[in-house]
Amino acid sequence: MLELKDVSGGYGHGHVIEGIDLRVDTGETIALLGPNGAGKSTLLAALSGVLPKRGGSIRLDGTELAQASSHRIVAQGLVQVPEGRRMFAPLSVEDNLRLGTVGLQQASRSAVAERFDYVYKLLPRLAERRHQRAGTLSGGEQQMVAVGRALMSKPRVLLLDEPFLGLAPRVIEEIRAALEALRAGGLTMVLVEQKLDIALPFTRRAYVLIKGRVALVEDSATLARRDDLAQLYFNLATQAAH
Ligand SMILES: Nc1ncnc2c1ncn2[C@@H]1O[C@H](COP(=O)(O)OP(=O)(O)O)[C@@H](O)[C@H]1O
Ligand SMILES: [Mg+2]
Repeated sequence: MLELKDVSGGYGHGHVIEGIDLRVDTGETIALLGPNGAGKSTLLAALSGVLPKRGGSIRLDGTELAQASSHRIVAQGLVQVPEGRRMFAPLSVEDNLRLGTVGLQQASRSAVAERFDYVYKLLPRLAERRHQRAGTLSGGEQQMVAVGRALMSKPRVLLLDEPFLGLAPRVIEEIRAALEALRAGGLTMVLVEQKLDIALPFTRRAYVLIKGRVALVEDSATLARRDDLAQLYFNLATQAAH
């Protein structure tokens, strides 16, 4: 279980996120929703240990990680697929994936081979392109590499920051199918997504972030049935301003 209590943080002066309480049960998938600039990526940066200023408690299966180094956090199994993919363009697909194994706790040759098998089976297109330079891939294929790289370290919790952003519908389907297979396999996931029609069917519960605070926590199915969804962010933002 991933449990956040009163998490705050920012980049210099002042807090961008504040008083965040959040729980993800083992095997659960949650959505982190909210308008642009709400602090979704900042929260993931706090979880990954790369936010300059952070406070509160972040526990993964009982282990406190709020002040841990980003390396230790990955080794503990809390792994992010960052916004914008961040490929090493001159390196091959396979070498990009191999970089993900730095977080693998026992990176023996057989453990690494097992992870490659796992990732190539989940995302067969990466197997086809294993020797191609990452910089020559399409956006969707690069996103697959980013997901695959995160999986190389055998995460317990996967944090995904808008993985479908700017991608064509066909490749969105392909990536969504892979994520659904991971979910069916019991992987715990946090999906940051702005599009409710993608996020809600995929998740069990949703947290809506407005101006750096949790404005709403609701079952995804309940949230999906609301008829004021279009108005919701606006209404929550208006309440938060008072
Ligand atoms: N590297 C950064 N340095 C300073 N401020 C930042 C940085 N990244 C984001 N911010 C600010 O933090 C706030 C939240 O941004 P972000 O977490 O990226 O929102 P979201 O992911 O929900 O769109 C915004 O006001 C943004 O300008
Ligand atoms: Mg963001």
